[in-house]
Amino acid sequence: MKRTAIFFGPEKGSVNRVADMICALIGTDKVEMVPVKSATAADFERFDQIIFGISTVGKETWDGKPAKTDWGIFLPEVSKGNFAGKKVAIFGLGDHITYAASFVDFIGLLAGELKKADATLYGQVPVEGYEFEESEAVADGLFAGLPIDEDFEPEKTPERIKNWIALLQRDFDF
Ligand SMILES: Cc1cc2nc3c(=O)[nH]c(=O)nc-3n(C[C@H](O)[C@H](O)[C@H](O)COP(=O)(O)O)c2cc1C
Repeated sequence: MKRTAIFFGPEKGSVNRVADMICALIGTDKVEMVPVKSATAADFERFDQIIFGISTVGKETWDGKPAKTDWGIFLPEVSKGNFAGKKVAIFGLGDHITYAASFVDFIGLLAGELKKADATLYGQVPVEGYEFEESEAVADGLFAGLPIDEDFEPEKTPERIKNWIALLQRDFDF
């Protein structure tokens, strides 16, 4: 069986809650939950399939230098990672009303770092069905991962996750 992990951060908020939902759908016995807060690049080695969970928070300050958040600290580990032969996907929390002009930007930021590290990304989601103005996560009409808005459309989350797991299952082996 393929070894699967969800690397997520921060803990206790919306990312954590959605990570738990994804874990439950795949099967809690099949997935290891790894808070990025206590992980390093060496932890990638233990898995064949990695799902990353991130939120876009405090982008203004990141444009200068990464904040001292869980992800701000962990991001350099992604650059050090060896993703050869691994399957990787991203889900990202955002707020499409208050932050319509930077909706889930950190999905794009993380996807960029993963691509630089030669990771192969899966689970790109069409922009149809989402309302926003701009997003650094979008290229050619696709988000680089799964956007979730628990602030303004939490009712859509279960269906979005279910569809996304089905999409991943074309390539991932759960
Ligand atoms: C200070 C702050 C800045 C935010 N900036 C953005 C943003 O630029 N784009 C976006 O889509 N969401 C933005 N959000 C919304 C969060 O991404 C959203 O609330 C998310 O669910 C937070 O998840 P977490 O509590 O697990 O970190 C921001 C939220 C806060 C509090």
